[in-house]
Amino acid sequence: MALQLGDEAPNFTAQTTEGTINFHEWLGDGWGVLFSHPKDFTPVCTTELGMVARIKDDFASRNVKVIAVSVDPIDSHQGWIGDINETQSCTMNYPIIADPDREVADLYGMIHPKASDTMTVRSVFVIAPDKTIKLTLTYPASTGRNFDEILRVIDSLQLTANHKVATPANWRDGDDCIVVPALSDDEAKGHFPKGFKIVKPYLRFTPQPNR
Ligand code: BEZ
Repeated sequence: MALQLGDEAPNFTAQTTEGTINFHEWLGDGWGVLFSHPKDFTPVCTTELGMVARIKDDFASRNVKVIAVSVDPIDSHQGWIGDINETQSCTMNYPIIADPDREVADLYGMIHPKASDTMTVRSVFVIAPDKTIKLTLTYPASTGRNFDEILRVIDSLQLTANHKVATPANWRDGDDCIVVPALSDDEAKGHFPKGFKIVKPYLRFTPQPNR
């Protein structure tokens, strides 16, 4: 069965462009993003890996480590990094897992045979400090991902892990949040000193609590 939200992110040991890692040890006590790309030396993947290198600080400032994976071998990754740096105005600054035996791809269900027997789809897993999976995304090979959206979700995940709020459609850090339905109005008064607005009994907004 496919990995689901709340499952433990499977552990593995793998060769990467920054040495051999044990995934859980590499994650340490912080958050992680594991994302797959279908194949080395392909155009969309080149732009994605370059983009993540350029915004790595935005992940680091949220205590998130990033790591890519594909089913190509390590020497292929090493050669490709030269192209990524040359064409994407970046210096690769995070590891790419070499997964020629598809160990990681199979553990995480990244091969979707009806899409391709040989290449991984574009999967994203956001992993919390307790190693549970908090987000899964699956994109087709032909569509590059929006990494601003992944940062936005991480902001929401980190906020909602610590405060009794949810975040509305297209929410961005700093916008008003939704009071979780489980809280009564009386309980919400105690939780949200800045107050909250009742639009409907089930739809209540409060300023972002950690701002
Ligand atoms: C790409 O990264 O450009 C790509 C990879 C596999 C299939 C199609 C496009």
